[in-house]
Amino acid sequence: MDRIKCQISRSNINQGTCRLWNISISALVFLTVYNIMLTVRLMYVPNCTKQYAPIQKPKIIYQKCDNDKEKPPDKYFLNLDLSLGRWDNRLKYKLYDNIIVGDKYVVLNDLYKTCLATQSSLEKIASIIEVANHWNGPISLATFAASEEELNTVLLYILYLRKCDTRIKERVAFHLVVTRERRPKMYEVDSVKLEELDCDNPVGILQHLVKDLNRGANKWRTKLPYPQNHLRNLARKNCQTKYVFLTDVDIIPSKGMAESLDVFLDNPECRGRCAYVIPTYELDERVLFPPNKTELIRLANKGLARPFHHKVFIYNQYATNFSRWQSSVNEEPDIHISHPVTNFEFLYEPFYIAPDTVPPHDERFIGYGYTRNSQVYEMFVAGYEFLVLSPIFTCHWGLQVKRSRPPWREHQNNLNRKQFDGFKKEIFARYNKDPLNMMTSRKT
Ligand SMILES: *[C@@H]1O[C@H](CO)[C@@H](O)[C@H](O)[C@H]1NC(C)=O
Ligand SMILES: *[C@@H]1O[C@H](CO)[C@@H](O)[C@H](O)[C@H]1NC(C)=O
Repeated sequence: MDRIKCQISRSNINQGTCRLWNISISALVFLTVYNIMLTVRLMYVPNCTKQYAPIQKPKIIYQKCDNDKEKPPDKYFLNLDLSLGRWDNRLKYKLYDNIIVGDKYVVLNDLYKTCLATQSSLEKIASIIEVANHWNGPISLATFAASEEELNTVLLYILYLRKCDTRIKERVAFHLVVTRERRPKMYEVDSVKLEELDCDNPVGILQHLVKDLNRGANKWRTKLPYPQNHLRNLARKNCQTKYVFLTDVDIIPSKGMAESLDVFLDNPECRGRCAYVIPTYELDERVLFPPNKTELIRLANKGLARPFHHKVFIYNQYATNFSRWQSSVNEEPDIHISHPVTNFEFLYEPFYIAPDTVPPHDERFIGYGYTRNSQVYEMFVAGYEFLVLSPIFTCHWGLQVKRSRPPWREHQNNLNRKQFDGFKKEIFARYNKDPLNMMTSRKT
């Protein structure tokens, strides 16, 4: 085409014009080709360096992705813009929902009737591996970062868990709480370190990371009140199923519980104000997790398992009535109600399954003391009935013995005891009932 045009022009116009024409055409062709190359390049270069750039504090989450193109950058996608989030009612904490969502979390919420809602500090978060191994339904996990440095570690470890454990990658939705005072301004995930972390030793790696975090001037970290109830509410509210099973992360459900609960809840025996209690045991570290109730009772008879907190704080689970639960022989394997709780007492704090219409966990209780039992107390005053299920159960690793509490923990407990005085008055005002005579006696 060029040549034809050029020949035509050559016959009419002078040589100089023709050269100019040639140069323009070449430039045009060059620019076109260059443009196409750029477009192609843009299509194949992962757009990762700009993915998380909140307005004030730019943040690069995955810096190294230009070099290894086979890894899609959204492997490390975090739905976390620190300049957003929700404040709690006292403006003390900021909450972020669904910072990472399990690949099948949404589907699992449709498939199952119960979602396991749980909360964990960084120290204990490795327990989620065993939980996700036993619980096939959706899991909503809220966690906490006390500082920017801790946030980076939390994120690194969550991504590590997702890298190494398919169940966690599929089932768990993670949520985050940070404090106002030490609010992180930015975060950073070291992708090179993440790639290097060895999948065979999740507990060891976590201990190592925590040790790094606690070194030197960071001792304040362990004493900082941990906002348990904020985390519980956050985990609960992000479940999408009809029923919620709220636990702490180190409470391990017996295997296959989610499926058998689905069958049981097809035809729930209680429809009003009631909750299904799952008995909790503590296990000697040397035994294997019992595969069934028979085996759990065998361990209990040998002193290798016992009701949770039996020696530390007996009221914690006592009203569940373990002797009654253990006494039923030749039980059907399907989930059924073993017995109702008949001797509810103040400070009882069972783990239970209920629709998430139960009262929230009161967020005035921060740190240790009165966090879970105050909520269960409100349920009781509100008229909830507690029904103990069998043959399912949960376990906590380690036989707990009474140790002297560190002073900071005693301090938190005392502060919460004072808060409880106000709380119980509000509960009395709300329900106009005082079934445990809390307003007249001095039980707390
Ligand atoms: C319970 O577990 C034990 C130990 O693994 C096993 O021997 C037993 O057959 C199981 N019992 C039932 C009823 O499944
Ligand atoms: C446990 O159940 C037994 C038998 O029904 C009953 O006698 C006992 O009072 C109950 N204990 C508690 C703590 O509920």
